[in-house]
Amino acid sequence: MKSYHDIVGDGGSRILEQVAEQRSRIADGLAGVRHLVAVGSGKGGVGKSTLTMHLANALRARGLRIAILDADFNGPSQARMAGVQGALFVPGSHKVSLPRTKNGIGVFSMGSVIPESEALDFESAAHGESHTWRATREFALLAEILESFEWGALDLLLFDLPPGAERTVQYADFLGPRTSFLLVTIPSEVARGVVARSVAALSKGANRVLGYVENMSGYYCRDCNAVKPLFASPPARLGIPCLGSVPFDPELARHCDGGMPLVEMPGTAVGRALDQVAQQLLESLER
Ligand SMILES: Nc1ncnc2c1ncn2[C@@H]1O[C@H](COP(=O)(O)OP(=O)(O)OP(=O)(O)O)[C@@H](O)[C@H]1O
Ligand SMILES: [Mg+2]
Repeated sequence: MKSYHDIVGDGGSRILEQVAEQRSRIADGLAGVRHLVAVGSGKGGVGKSTLTMHLANALRARGLRIAILDADFNGPSQARMAGVQGALFVPGSHKVSLPRTKNGIGVFSMGSVIPESEALDFESAAHGESHTWRATREFALLAEILESFEWGALDLLLFDLPPGAERTVQYADFLGPRTSFLLVTIPSEVARGVVARSVAALSKGANRVLGYVENMSGYYCRDCNAVKPLFASPPARLGIPCLGSVPFDPELARHCDGGMPLVEMPGTAVGRALDQVAQQLLESLER
């Protein structure tokens, strides 16, 4: 049976030139972005999207120019969290303008175009072959989004990644070494074990891993104004820098569900924690 490596040439499709041309259009479109940061984990449900959105808010409050690309096409969260569900993608003279939050964060999320009652469907050429097409179609779509939207001059473009340790590495490979990684874990051995695999896999590539954030590091009780233990496991050790811990605060979850930004809850334990992580992230990027 012939394999991918046996294919000689491109059969006249100019596919390699086309890919190279698209890569160069993407690089041009991102030339005004100072830092590209992917927020990943490997583990699902640990708060990647929550931290992406609220770190973006904390950075925006410092006057930085921020955009978010929700790369979780099948399970997008940013449209809801950022309050841009139903926002229109408005074509400009060359590129498409990003929907913006009230405080000026540009957000691309599939959740703006596909209602939660529908799933994103990557059509497959043959029955039983959707797994072959999925990654190809997904990354082709990511490339199209990167080249079609107006990113402009930004201090940070944050990518909210889907779960999956092996997929995290695919994003690193696709986005290239300009993109640094911020990993999210929670203080459970189950989560730490998966995130450790992402760290191991990323260490083989050229992308910088800035460190990790420990989310849900405790439970913030409003009645007693104290952070109490949430998980029995000790804090995670991942052999990379820890950029901070963020407690679980039911109010933060409520803000996420309602698409309300952090600016409406300053001075809280979770607000302070997020601000400290934002500071550490900036220092790490400038280092
Ligand atoms: N520190 C926190 N305090 C309160 N709620 C939180 C916190 N972190 C995350 N959550 C809530 O936990 C849920 C899961 O978070 P989120 O969707 O950000 O995880 P995720 O890692 O992006 O998940 P996925 O792997 O599906 O993309 C959400 O409902 C979110 O509001
Ligand atoms: Mg998510």
